[in-house]
Amino acid sequence: MQNIKDKKVILGVTGSIAVYKIVELVRAIIKSGGQVKVVQTESSRYFVGSLTFETLTRNKVYSGMFDNNASWEMNHISLADWGDILVIAPATANIIAKAATGIADDLLSTLFLAFDKQVLLVPAMNVRMFNSPATQKNIQELKERGIHFIEPEEGLLASGQTGKGRMPEIGTIFDELVRLMYVNKDYMGKRVLVTAGRTEEMIDPVRILTNRATGKMGIEIARAARNRGAEVTLILGPTHLKPPLNIKTVNVTTAEQMHRAVESEFNNCDILVMTAAVADFTPEVTWESKIKKASNEFELNLKPTVDILGSISANKGERIVVGFALETENEIKNAEMKLKKKLLDYIVVNNPLDEGAGFGTDTNVVRLISKDGHCETLPKMLKSELADIILDRILGTRQ
Ligand SMILES: Cc1cc2nc3c(=O)[nH]c(=O)nc-3n(C[C@H](O)[C@H](O)[C@H](O)COP(=O)(O)O)c2cc1C
Repeated sequence: MQNIKDKKVILGVTGSIAVYKIVELVRAIIKSGGQVKVVQTESSRYFVGSLTFETLTRNKVYSGMFDNNASWEMNHISLADWGDILVIAPATANIIAKAATGIADDLLSTLFLAFDKQVLLVPAMNVRMFNSPATQKNIQELKERGIHFIEPEEGLLASGQTGKGRMPEIGTIFDELVRLMYVNKDYMGKRVLVTAGRTEEMIDPVRILTNRATGKMGIEIARAARNRGAEVTLILGPTHLKPPLNIKTVNVTTAEQMHRAVESEFNNCDILVMTAAVADFTPEVTWESKIKKASNEFELNLKPTVDILGSISANKGERIVVGFALETENEIKNAEMKLKKKLLDYIVVNNPLDEGAGFGTDTNVVRLISKDGHCETLPKMLKSELADIILDRILGTRQ
């Protein structure tokens, strides 16, 4: 995670029950090579003591306005100079109100006023506190001033009520932090459309025809393009993976739905990357009720699905189109044929039988073939790293 490496993150922690979860964010930042200094409000220390944060960050925790080592040192200013970003998570209704109105009556609220770089607030509170006109007005005011927010999630809250107010998962907060810290914005102004995952074709109400793709590769491409400044649309088949924030996600199930979604989004994109493993065949009929085991034999008639790349290639224009090919034999020859037939600019070939390649893994091993016939063999690498290389090749920035 190059963009977090050596970055200095100030983590403001306030008095919400969600404090216990934020300890994991500290670990994630440090694991990625970043540095963290924690500023805790007095209330937050009722939930998790400073020792936990001090041990994890190997830095002292800042809390009181006047508890400096040297009486002349002003922590709110020296911290504001030190940090590249201020993340307040969980952010109470109280700190949001103070930030919106400029109240500076403790170290964290004073630091907020003095901090002139990027700020990310992650509210966490009871649904009624979150929906209250005061909190909503304060959030709106701060957004208008350029403060970044991650919306709380809906679900069961610590109070026992259900509603919007739950702090998002640590992975989501970390992902947003990475996006904000990303320096390379070479996709700014570009619209990238990515398809990811598998499709499911219904045989009867309980049985489906599908494959093992999880969408991980496509999600990493969508995430990398978003981090680099692109406006990203992700057409996503069924998966257990969560689509990243700040990406327009269109959920589909069948090959036909995937086809329609691509057709409707294609005109609004500059670049299309098709990583989805779309079913080639679908049942001729879908049974309305569960098929009973009547005999030892059962014949399932299939018909071909629409060839999505083939159907849009006629309208391609100036757009760059990248396809993926999953081959277990004659990889290069088959991929080259697909590249030519579907007028692709690049084809990424992978063989799920290769060690480190395949479904749901964090790594991949691929070859990249361009329309001018150049074939590049890439070593095994993280799908997140591969995503950046594919985006580099598309822009022609790293040859
Ligand atoms: C058990 C408990 C849980 C709380 N959880 C939250 C919460 O999730 N969000 C919130 O905004 N306030 C919560 N509060 C209220 C805040 O702790 C209170 O408003 C406090 O003044 C916040 O101070 P701070 O913003 O300086 O940390 C909770 C209070 C208690 C006693």
